[in-house]
Amino acid sequence: MAGVSVQAFRRQGRRFGAGLVCSEMVSCAGLQHGNERSLGYLRIASDERPLAVQIFGSEPKVMAEAARMVEDAGADLVDVNFGCPVKKVTKTGAGATLLEDPERACGIVSAVAEAVSVPVTVKMRRGLENGSRACLELGPRLVEAGAESLTLHPRSARQMYTGEADHSLTAQLVSRVDVPVIASGDVTSRARAQAILATTGAAAVMVGRAAQGNPWALREMIEGDAEAPTREEVVAELILFMRATVRELGEKRASGFLKKFYGWYLGQLGAPRITKPFKQELVQLESLDEVETRLLAAAPGAAEVLEALQTEAPDGEDDVVLDLPISIYGGG
Ligand SMILES: Cc1cc2nc3c(=O)[nH]c(=O)nc-3n(C[C@H](O)[C@H](O)[C@H](O)COP(=O)(O)O)c2cc1C
Repeated sequence: MAGVSVQAFRRQGRRFGAGLVCSEMVSCAGLQHGNERSLGYLRIASDERPLAVQIFGSEPKVMAEAARMVEDAGADLVDVNFGCPVKKVTKTGAGATLLEDPERACGIVSAVAEAVSVPVTVKMRRGLENGSRACLELGPRLVEAGAESLTLHPRSARQMYTGEADHSLTAQLVSRVDVPVIASGDVTSRARAQAILATTGAAAVMVGRAAQGNPWALREMIEGDAEAPTREEVVAELILFMRATVRELGEKRASGFLKKFYGWYLGQLGAPRITKPFKQELVQLESLDEVETRLLAAAPGAAEVLEALQTEAPDGEDDVVLDLPISIYGGG
């Protein structure tokens, strides 16, 4: 998820049981031009693997070159984005636009599959317009072009995130291709995941928004452990996440990035009307140190939980597979 699935998020997901995690989408043009932020997305650590890195773009050659860089960086899969509904992306002919441009979409997948030896996968929406079934026609062609797995988020691009994901399309896609299909969209609980797997025949589910500030949701889905986290656990996980994000993005970028996470984490402790004032207080604090201090004041027992987490969780500092100069990470 763009703006969410930073390395700290992916590592946390793995720690809570996710079998495979995926990067934010990376612009192939950004990689081609050596854009620092785009290159920063190729920072991969061993404890987040298996990892998919997702690329987006509209030019087969540039996508192939980007895929090579992704493979060199140590990704286990190259995922191609045919789902992004955001105008900035679709107006360049990338993302969801490719659902309605099958020739180009297949050209991209075959160029990318030829360029790398790791598996190439595709993530798509159902189509551009509401009611579209474009994914069902396109899916088999993408497999023919070299896609080894398809993930379907069965909403239209126009829908953005409104309405519901229509997983009857996922079931139809499963019956049309002989590669694993991954179901994405509205997977929020173990019961929901099991229902989607049972009714679609999908090989796996992908969890998006439900894991934002809530790694415990993954544990519930995977292990059936529905025990809600304590206040101390929530605060400790949040602080661990904050520290990892600062190492990854640098203090300045991290403090903006983290603001949306406070509400998500606090959401584990009560309804928004109860936790909102505390969230408002956190977003207004000047520095992340102050946020930490305030969080620990609200849950003093979290310090001990945090220490245990820090001892257990590898910080991965030495695990960067691709030896890129530190400056491109936008922080140390
Ligand atoms: C903030 C945000 C960013 C996203 N970024 C991406 C992305 O970069 N690539 C992608 O394939 N899907 C992206 N998605 C879509 C999700 O992968 C997923 O398909 C969608 O949110 C539905 O699943 P969910 O109901 O589990 O969230 C994003 C979704 C959100 C909410």
